[in-house]
Amino acid sequence: MAKEKVVLAYSGGLDTSVIVKWLQVERGMDVIAICGNVGQDERDLGPIKQKALDMGAIVSEAVDMREEYAEKILSKAIWANGKYEGIYPLLSALSRPLISKHLVDIAHEYGATYVAHGCTGKGNDQVRFETSIQALDPSLKIIAPVREWDLKTRDEEMVWAEAHGVPVPTTHKKPYSIDDNLWGRAIECGVLEDTWNTPPADIWTMTNNPEDCPNDPETVIIGFKGGVPCSVNGVEMPLLDVILKANEIAGRNGYGRIDMIEDRVVGIKSRECYECPGALLLITAHQALEMLCLDAEALKQKAKLDVEWASLVYRGMWFSQSRLAIDAYNAYTQQFVTGEVRIKLCKGGIFVDGLRSTYSLYDYNLATYDEGDQFDHSASRGFIELHSLPSRIWSRVQGPGSGLQPIN
Ligand code: ARG
Repeated sequence: MAKEKVVLAYSGGLDTSVIVKWLQVERGMDVIAICGNVGQDERDLGPIKQKALDMGAIVSEAVDMREEYAEKILSKAIWANGKYEGIYPLLSALSRPLISKHLVDIAHEYGATYVAHGCTGKGNDQVRFETSIQALDPSLKIIAPVREWDLKTRDEEMVWAEAHGVPVPTTHKKPYSIDDNLWGRAIECGVLEDTWNTPPADIWTMTNNPEDCPNDPETVIIGFKGGVPCSVNGVEMPLLDVILKANEIAGRNGYGRIDMIEDRVVGIKSRECYECPGALLLITAHQALEMLCLDAEALKQKAKLDVEWASLVYRGMWFSQSRLAIDAYNAYTQQFVTGEVRIKLCKGGIFVDGLRSTYSLYDYNLATYDEGDQFDHSASRGFIELHSLPSRIWSRVQGPGSGLQPIN
């Protein structure tokens, strides 16, 4: 009988390397190892791909997903000013649905009935992979070996690996758990688990230490078309390149570090350090431009929808009715978010320095306090008469004007 096939989300790290072997030994399956390039620091995926083949995978592929990640996913994150709990730009949450989509496509291509991932049982990423995969193809079965096996510690895993011919890392245990891609880096575990510990200087690799940055600010102009960044300092480029540039510029000015307590889907609070220089620069610029181009009501609705969007994506619901519906609201509003934003970066700080747009709703002649003022001041009198009507009635019947009780 032909063996069952399983498509594995494979990174080349210890866990997913052990899984390549474990699925063969413990489950008797044929393994298809898929390593997604989403812009992580690990640039050369060739040896990682080869390692899976050496361990017996029947197929091993490194798939460059960067352009698709930028164009299809990060553009929507910028539209939604996507930040979970108002702070975290969702870098891990955004990459998982994209990787899931590729896993499902590859499962179909090879006739695999299983998909596997290397997430632990207490994180968010298991929720995102499995929710995305099931939304795309509910008939696929999922295996999460790290949740199932009884290799409790890294040492036990190393022993199992050595016994089964899985190459083990020669370097010492990494002191942190890292996940990174185009949208930034997440750093967890180790000394960071004590919330009073200062994050050690060596956790940061995308951003300079703000104290050591140049004293003079650096100015950068980000151009937007339809809510999506399309140029840096007047030079047009694809979103992928804008993001790479933004990471570089903000990073060298020490901007983009986050140290927060975050509420995971599974109910745990965790201490998370992130560096997202490009993501935060682009979202800051985008949000500033929206304030120029969208009216007060649209902004008010959008602020609520932005919160929902981030929460949905954080909880693994990229492929869902609600996320698609919010993106439909954004597709309408964002067609007017076109223009330029001038930003200054200095020693870890960011300052919006100027804005312009052909769709600007800012009207100089209405706003000015100088000559040329076209605002009808006399119209305000009648407006306030009606605006204050409920206040006057309330005062007379129940409030300070009623003499019923003193008011604070
Ligand atoms: N807490 C972040 C999130 O849930 C980062 C997760 C990082 N993932 C990892 N495997 N280290 O989105």
